[in-house]
Amino acid sequence: MTHMHVAGSLHADAVSVAPQWLVKPTDVNALDRNLWSDSTTRRESGELAIGGLSVNEIVAQTGSPVYVMDEVDFRGRALTWRRAFEGWHVYYASKSFLCATVARWIAEEGLSLDVSSMGELTVALRAGFDPARMALHGNNKSEAELRLALTSGVGRIVVDSSDEIGRLERLTAELGVRAQVLIRVTTGVEAHTHEYIATAHEDQKFGFSISSGSALVAMVRCYHSPQIDLVGIHSHIGSQIFDTNGFEVATRRTLKLLAQFREATGVALPELDLGGGFGIAYTSDDSPSTPYELAKGLSEIVAHECRAFGMDVPTLSIEPGRAICGPAGTAVYTVGTTKTVEVGGGYNRRYISVDGGMSDNIRPALYAAEYSAVLAGRSSTARPVLSRVVGLHCEGGDILVRDTFLPDDVRPGDLIAVPASGAYSRSMASNYNHTPRPPVVSVKDGKVSTLVRRETLDDLLALDAGIAEEDR
Ligand code: LLP
Repeated sequence: MTHMHVAGSLHADAVSVAPQWLVKPTDVNALDRNLWSDSTTRRESGELAIGGLSVNEIVAQTGSPVYVMDEVDFRGRALTWRRAFEGWHVYYASKSFLCATVARWIAEEGLSLDVSSMGELTVALRAGFDPARMALHGNNKSEAELRLALTSGVGRIVVDSSDEIGRLERLTAELGVRAQVLIRVTTGVEAHTHEYIATAHEDQKFGFSISSGSALVAMVRCYHSPQIDLVGIHSHIGSQIFDTNGFEVATRRTLKLLAQFREATGVALPELDLGGGFGIAYTSDDSPSTPYELAKGLSEIVAHECRAFGMDVPTLSIEPGRAICGPAGTAVYTVGTTKTVEVGGGYNRRYISVDGGMSDNIRPALYAAEYSAVLAGRSSTARPVLSRVVGLHCEGGDILVRDTFLPDDVRPGDLIAVPASGAYSRSMASNYNHTPRPPVVSVKDGKVSTLVRRETLDDLLALDAGIAEEDR
């Protein structure tokens, strides 16, 4: 999504008509190490292998399409984020991908968990995740959600509105419990990302505005609330962000707010959560910073700003989601048809249709997100051809990979793999066209384990009240 370009006529043969950032590969079988999970290799036989299994072996066991999660890579990234941000609280943003097994991996690697719905909270609790290490988000948390969070002892509730403060005051009194809260603030930062996933500019639904003064008012109200413990503030500036500039401004503004609160009440709040949003590589053009680089950059920014405000450095938190599960996941599809279409002026475009689409990855349609793909079930000696990988849905915008080079001899039955598919693919998947959602499997040491099973038509028919049980 960092590269937005108008879809124009592209000559299927000429490199010059590929989008500027896309370089024609000299070896169409090569893997860009920045894009693929650690254990992904291309075997001498030509097959792509993940976690010690070729994609052909995986698909033989799971069917196609399938999301494949590299367990060692996922855990390794989680641990790296925790180690890089030593002394910080690192919350895994479960909206990026959650199931019970992933919640256990996160617990085992020593991270905390950000949940933002009744569903995510329930999965995490059922997985046995320690509620004290969870933070609950949401701009419209239901009463049932708040009750569950309060009675199960969720560690932090990130408060988003005055209505919610009122609801919390009533519920804590009724239940005889206390709530530890962070106030979600909007810093006015315009993150350089797609509008729909930038969250800290003023004209959007989240949080309390710092500039209008409503954030300080909310903080003072919570501070004086008998059963609310105001612990600190929370800022999330957006997603798929590559540099620390936005965080620098957000940190300055949030620390200034903490200083104002201290002036108003004499109290220094102990916590500052800077949210998530750290970008990953979806194409060879993306070069994200490492967690260590980010930790160094953010720590320096916070230390510098705290000195300027004469404050002690608060306890800091971050909430990476995509940066942990995104690169660990690969989507594998089977080609059903290929066609080359004349797009006018003697230009062609090659379409490769696969057995998935916008129902299992809405991100290209929703955010103009760019992805990459390779021929995965075999290698090829054919020349690279600029291609567009599309799905099976009844919609022209059903694009999975807008521009990528694939070998000229891709044919029906071939497997195509799309890297960096672990985040926000399954978690945002739909049943559009009554399409059952693919399974998520983990692979490790040559073994496949099911994380989330494949949905079946029976699962979908069971929801349809107009179909009698005996007709399903
Ligand atoms: N913390 C908060 C409060 C958030 O709202 C989010 C993402 C995160 C952490 C994690 O962000 P991450 O590190 O995963 O980028 N569905 C979109 C992105 C919107 C995510 C919304 N919140 C996507 O597919 O790119």
